[in-house]
Amino acid sequence: MSKIVTLQEFIIDRQNEFPFASGELSRLLNDISVASKIVSRDVRKAGLVDHILGTHGAVNIQGEEQQKLDVVADNQFIKMFENGGEVCGIASEENDDFVAFENKASKKGKYVVLFDPLDGSSNVDVNVSIGTIFSIYKRISPVGESATLEDMLQEGTKQIAAGYVLYGSSTMLVYTTGHGVNGFTLDPSIGEFCLSHPNMIMPETSRIYSMNEGNIDQCHLGIQKYIQYCQEEDKSTGRPYSGRYIGSLVADFHRSLIKGGIYIYPATNSSAAGKLRLLYECNPLAFIAEQANGIASDGKRRILDIKPNKLHQRVPYIVGSKKMVNQVLELIAKNDN
Ligand code: AHG
Ligand code: MN
Ligand code: MN
Repeated sequence: MSKIVTLQEFIIDRQNEFPFASGELSRLLNDISVASKIVSRDVRKAGLVDHILGTHGAVNIQGEEQQKLDVVADNQFIKMFENGGEVCGIASEENDDFVAFENKASKKGKYVVLFDPLDGSSNVDVNVSIGTIFSIYKRISPVGESATLEDMLQEGTKQIAAGYVLYGSSTMLVYTTGHGVNGFTLDPSIGEFCLSHPNMIMPETSRIYSMNEGNIDQCHLGIQKYIQYCQEEDKSTGRPYSGRYIGSLVADFHRSLIKGGIYIYPATNSSAAGKLRLLYECNPLAFIAEQANGIASDGKRRILDIKPNKLHQRVPYIVGSKKMVNQVLELIAKNDN
């Protein structure tokens, strides 16, 4: 048996790789891991809360309304960031506007965090994997002042760190600071994230594609042709490929990271910019994908190069194994009119 490396140890060991190695980012990552352990515990109790202890939306014994798990997770992370002293403000999928923390310590914080507290939350009711996705940037506004919208609207290339927590059959935390991708599995018996997936690399190609095919008639001809290609029989290239769609981006992405594959959420007639959010979902996972040798694109542009113009901006999203994504991009270019 090899020595167990905990996330905390790993963060300290790698601290010199951070761009501004002063311990603050280490503390922030540590805060995220603690908040995610608390959320993981709450996720594990979701079925009990819904079906035995009382439904969400009901009023509990203290007269408080039971909150949906997205809101519980959102509040948990915000509380951790607000009290941690490293973060001056946040933006989250669950809040209409960004939040600038006005306490003295937070105003001195160097970072902002953008996050999706619970991704795939419609899957909670059916006991399917869900997750948290986060993205960390250095603030642009002066230290000591309130965080601004400009701090939040930075290109993905400016990310200092990004990661996700997957509440699956185990709870895993996967993150990058721009020096490769590492994955940690929560050992619930000791309450520690332990390094289980060092130096994660996405296979260059695979035989798995992932898309909500209910949208197929509405999407770009290039994407339609690619999905047809995946489904055609051709033994020499291992086709037909397997279709896998969990409906939690974070879980579909995690599978692609480990087994290779392609995930597509296209622009559709009803939603011209697709469904997924650039700041909370696409950018952090694009950073991880690129660090693991994969690609993330909106069909024409590298995701990380897109300059956001609003907080809840949506983008079409194609992410995964290099060869597969490149093939779709070629088909999109060829069938563009
Ligand atoms: P969220 O639960 O944070 O709103 O995100 C849901 C997203 C994403 O996780 C998933 O891949 C996608 O919505 C599924 O959308 P469809 O049901 O349209 O396929
Ligand atoms: Mn989401
Ligand atoms: Mn969400």
